[in-house]
Amino acid sequence: MTKITTLLGIKYPVIQGAMQTVATANLAAAVSNGGGLGVIAAGGLSASELRAQIRQAKQLTSHPFAVNLMLMATNTSELVQVIIAEQVPVVTTGAGTPKAYLPTLKAAGIKVIPVVPNVTIAKKMAALGVDAVIAEGMEGGGHIGELTSQVLWPQIADAIDIPLIAAGGIADGRGVVSALALGAAGVQCGTIFSIAQESPVGDRWRQAVIKATDTATVVVGRSIRDASRALKNQQTEQLQALETQTTDRIVFNQALNQGLKLAVTTDDVTNGVIFSGQVAGLINEALPAATIVQRLMADAQTVLQQLPTSLEAL
Ligand SMILES: Cc1cc2nc3c(=O)[nH]c(=O)nc-3n(C[C@H](O)[C@H](O)[C@H](O)COP(=O)(O)O)c2cc1C
Repeated sequence: MTKITTLLGIKYPVIQGAMQTVATANLAAAVSNGGGLGVIAAGGLSASELRAQIRQAKQLTSHPFAVNLMLMATNTSELVQVIIAEQVPVVTTGAGTPKAYLPTLKAAGIKVIPVVPNVTIAKKMAALGVDAVIAEGMEGGGHIGELTSQVLWPQIADAIDIPLIAAGGIADGRGVVSALALGAAGVQCGTIFSIAQESPVGDRWRQAVIKATDTATVVVGRSIRDASRALKNQQTEQLQALETQTTDRIVFNQALNQGLKLAVTTDDVTNGVIFSGQVAGLINEALPAATIVQRLMADAQTVLQQLPTSLEAL
């Protein structure tokens, strides 16, 4: 048992990151059945669509799962009501502060875990009374901050007293062990789960991630202070061009989200946006979600056993 498995009622301290349009009930349930914490991404969903996703997940798993709220969404209050009515045990949050919703969620017995990009925000969240934080480095796929995981995780671990979940660049046992060494009590992975067999993405998306090299991703939106990381393609070039023409984050995000939806629904890997982390270069196969969870843990155990027991052995 670890702090995170006890807090969340799961077997392994592995969380599947929220992924707008990708992290569906089917994927989340498969992760939870594998002993991790599956997460349904509420980004882009209406209240009734989220309710349907939650009910589907409940049919597919008896284990805990979470819902991720992207807090800039205008229907967040409605989504919160659905989450409470459906008794979802855990909420992760991104793109803003959960302050306005925290009392209601906590009163309903729901654990709240925000994604944070730096120490200042991590401290603010801890002071609000959240249950843990997910510290995500800029290596990760999707919306990102500015700091790398290597420097972010230990600084946040030193700054707060609640459990830290490390995200950004983890796809194997070495990544898990590095996160533990840097102060984390658990890990969150996105890119490797984006191509799990239960993910809704198509074969061209899966192959694009599998073939990706270490330098295959690019950050778009940095100049308008809304950076996200995706595989380089024609669409990311167009988004970079759009960045030079507009500073309107709404306009930019509409184009970005349309691209993401296109990639998921049509498997168009040229005109669509494939959110992916730099760790795509390490990922060589598309596995069932439960296998991913279990391999992360088993490989981490092996890595730990193989570490030198003294610095003299280096
Ligand atoms: C396809 C994709 C979509 C994502 N969408 C979201 C999202 O909707 N909300 C969120 O909080 N994070 C989102 N993320 C970030 C992940 O939840 C996770 O923190 C990140 O992928 C971890 O880094 P990794 O990709 O190196 O594993 C997304 C990531 C990917 C790959």
